[in-house]
Amino acid sequence: MTDNAKNRLEKLKVEIRRHERLYYVEDNPEISDVEFDALMRELITLEKDNPSLATADSPAQRVGGAPASTLATVTHNINAPMLSLDNAYSDEELEKFHERVMKNLGDENFEYAVEPKLDGLGASLIYENGVLVTGATRGDGVTGEDVTANVKTIKTVPLKVDAPKGMERFEVRGEVYMPRSAFERLNSEREAEGGNLFANPRNASAGSLRLLDSSITALRSLEMVVYTLIVTDSTGKSKLIPGADSHHTAMELLRALGFKTPDVEVVQNMAEVEKVIASYDKKRETLGYDIDGMVIKVDSFRQRNELGSTSKFPRWAIAFKYPAQQVTTKLLSIETQVGRTGAITPVANLTPVTVGGSKVSRATLHNEDEIKRKDIRAGDTVLIEKGGEVIPKVVKVITSKRTGSEKKFVMPQKCPACGADIFRPEGEAVARCSGSACPAQLKEKLKHFTARTAMDIDNVGPALIDQLLEKKLIHDPADLYYIGHQDVMRLERMADKSAKNVIDSIEKSKTQPLDKVLFAMGIRYVGARVAKVLAQNFADIDKLMTATPDTLENIHEIGPRVAKSVSVFFSQKANRDLVEKLRHAGVNLKAGDMKVSQTLAGKQFVLTGTLQTMTRLEAKTKIESQGARVTSAVTKKTDYLVEGADPGSKSKKAKELGVTILDEAAFLKMAG
Ligand code: IVH
Repeated sequence: MTDNAKNRLEKLKVEIRRHERLYYVEDNPEISDVEFDALMRELITLEKDNPSLATADSPAQRVGGAPASTLATVTHNINAPMLSLDNAYSDEELEKFHERVMKNLGDENFEYAVEPKLDGLGASLIYENGVLVTGATRGDGVTGEDVTANVKTIKTVPLKVDAPKGMERFEVRGEVYMPRSAFERLNSEREAEGGNLFANPRNASAGSLRLLDSSITALRSLEMVVYTLIVTDSTGKSKLIPGADSHHTAMELLRALGFKTPDVEVVQNMAEVEKVIASYDKKRETLGYDIDGMVIKVDSFRQRNELGSTSKFPRWAIAFKYPAQQVTTKLLSIETQVGRTGAITPVANLTPVTVGGSKVSRATLHNEDEIKRKDIRAGDTVLIEKGGEVIPKVVKVITSKRTGSEKKFVMPQKCPACGADIFRPEGEAVARCSGSACPAQLKEKLKHFTARTAMDIDNVGPALIDQLLEKKLIHDPADLYYIGHQDVMRLERMADKSAKNVIDSIEKSKTQPLDKVLFAMGIRYVGARVAKVLAQNFADIDKLMTATPDTLENIHEIGPRVAKSVSVFFSQKANRDLVEKLRHAGVNLKAGDMKVSQTLAGKQFVLTGTLQTMTRLEAKTKIESQGARVTSAVTKKTDYLVEGADPGSKSKKAKELGVTILDEAAFLKMAG
């Protein structure tokens, strides 16, 4: 390789590291995502062409590597096991801790550092000469698991730092966690596939950090905040930290090196500690990640040493745990909401209560059967729980509080929005409004149409949609393309500039690819993935509209349910009119080039049973990204059956037909 290319590679690494830090740690990017991606792609290509120069600290490593068969064990520094924290559940218990600290430090003055207790998984990172060499889970505190490849995929973990003199070897410890938005995305993906859901972001982060295949971890958007720095000599003995004699100064040092650290508040007394605790209790719902308490630590390292530790906990720190996010309240009434497809969802109106810092007055009840199963009645006292989701759920009824005046829920027979009949098809859990011109359905359809994942019309939000409907400016999604600047100007609080933004973003959406248009139309059973498959198989919407159910079913991944739904959708005049209106407005209805790369090209896979390390969608994506297909049934044409836990009848069929069966590890090896 030329010196030029070598220099370029080194420069790229430094640049990318700097931008990663600006973006992920400091939240202050200097370049756009597109520019960043271009730098990363350049680095990946250079490393691919010159494998000898692909070092362990390269940012390109973050995409994840080949899967391991099991996680190896790592012994933590024997001089410094990873301890846990003693807990306090009340101000009294905190006071007791404070008195113990005062007593043990004699009459000396001291300060506390107070910071959030993140609800994730404890982990350790070891750096040698500035390079991340080992990442491990806390495990039992003495031994953990080697998750080096996985921690490298976490964007807030620097792979290389400019360590100051005296820090040739150091360890940082912290918490790996999953932000709520990533948790919700992951669970909705799993739900769509009928897979098991993670109970909370903590379980999801633990599951994701301990995966055997780091390329899947890379998709899980984990983060890490570090709260301990240990500098050691070559024998592993702790040394003084250069330039830091307290927790808050050590955190400043780590921040300067590019780590993400907690927001530390240094305070002088217990009253101030309690103030910080109360202020976080108020804002913790808005943090974007779960915290289950606050950690109160003696700030000075010298004083920490004096206090020492028991075999389990340091005597210089305590965790204050917030009370559980469950409360009881009165369920006042049950009303019904109408969704985009006419689905009727019962919702509980509650006497407002505060759960985990936020006021709650509504809870979802899912469907009629759920209400029956939990025997939820209007007037009941109920236990509600606020998890990672925005809207809380009813856990159970406190039946001992019943007075006899509670009313059972009856699904209304008429739609609350349009008065049309409500029907519940046999075998389905969901009741639906049959109205073809239901205003509630239309509003939800428009919200779906304009969503980021569909036509991506970012200046047309729910409030604007309400106004457009109210002023009768639109009657279906295609009408959006026919409103003018003057129409928008007439709406409330619309200045010339914002009206222009609305029109511009509608205009821009006309070039969305065909799969987004198909998804935006809201055809039943056509989610983002199915829409993509359809767009890959038809040159334009006209070919799709005239396809028979048989033709559609011949496409891999399209089953009879989708095939029928698509052809019924396009057989309806209203929907064909919608297409014509979109066409007339100049919306793109042609498929672009949607070809995939071709490594396992042409092979057919079937998935069965529950996969431990990834969702079905993730497995499917992995397979398809290499030019292979996933089908639902085992046939003579099937090349591989990937078998998870509790496989169904597909395994038997595969054996009968002599299809190769791969367990999860073998599959990962092949597709990795
Ligand atoms: S300090 C020796 N600070 O909570 C004490 N721990 O329940 C080391 N945790 O094992 C821990 N946020 O995994 C500390 N800001 C924070 C924390 C934190 C979360 C976890 C950590 C610890 C567990 C104890």
